[in-house]
Amino acid sequence: MQALYGFPESEGAARRLADRLGIPFRPVGLHRFPDGESLVRIDPPAGSAVLYRSLDRPNGKLVELLLAASALRDGGCRDLTLVAPYLAYMRQDAAFHPGEAVSQKVIGRLIAGAVDRVVTVNPHLHRTAGIAAVFPGIAAVAIDAAPAIAERLSTEAAMRDAVVIGPDEESRPWAEALARPLGLAVVTARKTRRGDRDVRVDLPEGSHLAGRPVLLLDDVASTGETLAACARAAKAAGAARVEAYVVHALYGHEVGRRLAAAGIERLRSSDSIPHPSNDLELAGLMASALARTGGSPR
Ligand code: R5P
Repeated sequence: MQALYGFPESEGAARRLADRLGIPFRPVGLHRFPDGESLVRIDPPAGSAVLYRSLDRPNGKLVELLLAASALRDGGCRDLTLVAPYLAYMRQDAAFHPGEAVSQKVIGRLIAGAVDRVVTVNPHLHRTAGIAAVFPGIAAVAIDAAPAIAERLSTEAAMRDAVVIGPDEESRPWAEALARPLGLAVVTARKTRRGDRDVRVDLPEGSHLAGRPVLLLDDVASTGETLAACARAAKAAGAARVEAYVVHALYGHEVGRRLAAAGIERLRSSDSIPHPSNDLELAGLMASALARTGGSPR
């Protein structure tokens, strides 16, 4: 038997992936006790399973995920794939100050001990060579959403003559991968983060934004400060209109209001995390990745 198991907060996206894979969707049964603990129930467990959960706001979700994986194993699951469109704790890949935990290593090992395979989307890896290095001993695939975003934008008149702005040097290959098929210019900004909510962005000389539409592109929007600083810089340089596209929308209402106030007229995202800005379904890309990696349930 085969099935895809999903959690309540992302049931829609999990069902879409189950449909693509042609297997049944089964909700993970969750009970939250008054003391904050979770009871997880998998009924019935499949011999070959996909467990779907995006790990934004990860602390409670990770524990429930591990409990679900354990229940599946106890029920006889021999082949278990985790689809986590957003992977948490990837940024802390080193101890930046004495005494800090290397979260990426801890979480990677924890997940690698629970499942056979991981599929994710544009994980935030800075210094780590690739996603395989995060999950020792198991298969891991990172899907790149840039070509799908490019295709989504390719028919939009508002994008003609747009300038794609990546907020920092790390975003350059990604911004170029999106801009190239659309024939758009790319500008790479210089970002300085002085604190969680204190970001400065400088555009290079000769960015030529005056009178042109701008598309800000980033993997993650969390506090929104990066996009807001980019938008203000683009507006100050004369951009006619500012839009943004991110893969993972981690922010709430208040940040959304601040982004609008900074001049972003439209902000869209993939459905890696359920969010009002969702514009791009990832189920097709994930189903193909699962087929390539042998993760489609048999
Ligand atoms: C940083 O390197 C990332 O690519 C994003 O720019 C960053 O995570 C966005 O965070 P925030 O919305 O909090 O500025």
